Amino acid sequence: MSVEIRTAGSDEKIGALRPIWHYFGGPAGPEKEQAERMLIPEGRIHVAVDGGEIVAGAGAFEFDLTVPGGPIRAAGPTVVGVLPTHRRRGVLRELMRVQLEDVHTRGEPVAVLWASEGGIYGRFGYGLASVAGDMEIPKGHTRFAQPVDWPGSPRLVAADEALRLFPQVYDCVASETPGMLGRTPEWWEKRTLADSEWRRSGGGELVFAVLERDGRPEAFAIYRLNFAYDDGVPTGKTHVVEAMGATSAATAAVWRYVLDIDWMARIEAELLPVDHPLFLLLLEQNRMRFRIGDGLWVRLVDVGAALAARGYAGEGELVLEVADEFCPWNDGRYRLDGTKTTAGPDLRLSVDALGSTYLGGFSFADLLRAGRVEEVREGAIARADALFRTDRKPWCPEIF
Ligand SMILES: CC(C)(COP(=O)(O)OP(=O)(O)OC[C@H]1O[C@@H](n2cnc3c(N)ncnc32)[C@H](O)[C@@H]1OP(=O)(O)O)[C@@H](O)C(=O)NCCC(=O)NCCS
Repeated sequence: MSVEIRTAGSDEKIGALRPIWHYFGGPAGPEKEQAERMLIPEGRIHVAVDGGEIVAGAGAFEFDLTVPGGPIRAAGPTVVGVLPTHRRRGVLRELMRVQLEDVHTRGEPVAVLWASEGGIYGRFGYGLASVAGDMEIPKGHTRFAQPVDWPGSPRLVAADEALRLFPQVYDCVASETPGMLGRTPEWWEKRTLADSEWRRSGGGELVFAVLERDGRPEAFAIYRLNFAYDDGVPTGKTHVVEAMGATSAATAAVWRYVLDIDWMARIEAELLPVDHPLFLLLLEQNRMRFRIGDGLWVRLVDVGAALAARGYAGEGELVLEVADEFCPWNDGRYRLDGTKTTAGPDLRLSVDALGSTYLGGFSFADLLRAGRVEEVREGAIARADALFRTDRKPWCPEIF
């Protein structure tokens, strides 16, 4: 391949983003502003250059990712794009190789991403590790099975106050939910709370509501009202961008709040966890129109370090034989403490299949049913599932 792959210089950020912007039909605003709001750290963008022109780019965020047992460092590949002039010549493959080598050198045990298309990333060792759901419910069918019992009150706040209050709730939820990412104040300001015109899609402004008890934030909601009337009847919808609570009562209260807003005929929300309490709060779950799609993909970049960094739901021995064509340094047999071993394996699987189990989103029994793991020693699937078990399904509430 005549195309050169290298790290982008600090003055090449915009050029590196142009290939992915191409597919969005152009940048969502002034290029400089858009490049700055991306928040990709210096030195973490790779580009492919042909004849002096950047023809492809791939960046990576630096995240604290919650995994069972606590937070770990993770790379977050993003803005991956190859111009149509250079597609299917192996440019992405080379970008992925260089990026994963870089992640490995930096000592980040895993990489996580959202895939634009399901067919792309498995070959590079990423496994689908979580699913997420969208819902759209008619306002008239949002009754709860039991009344909400939460003594606090909601208050609308401006973005600067949201920036001070919302992280207190978010951090609490993120600390116990595999798949959630730590957010810096900059991330909150430039991404989560930024009310960019292009994200409105014809809807209203971004609204921030905090639910407080004894002066402390316990839940928050970020939403837009999409006003509409038809033949004298309100037909608008509340679009919930994010709503969560630090306690189960506050979670119920914040959802009651967004479901009850007047004039809106429907409430829609995206990227909800599949074990969302709404399934059991609502009286008529069948009216949710819950549609499940793919969520976060996980790539174990250093299998040993990733296994050692994760917590397990009990004591027990397990030897995993992992095959990794794309990152051959991972090939081998591992104990759960991350050490390599020559002992006979209990299970044999590829690194992407192991990635699917890492956050607890899929079980080894799920892999077995899909023909994605070999049970070498009888009973090993059940033992592995007992060890990898998590109380909550992984949830990543945002696409990055
Ligand atoms: C997806 C994209 C990055 C692929 O780049 P590319 O340089 O054409 O990919 P490569 O030539 O390196 O292909 C590597 C492999 O992936 C496969 N592949 C590439 N794009 C694919 C797609 N969209 N779906 C399924 N397979 C795909 C190729 O067929 C090839 O398969 P092989 O390993 O069997 O040979 C590029 O088409 C693109 O920019 N698409 C639009 C933006 C996008 O979707 N970016 C990803 C954001 S998560």
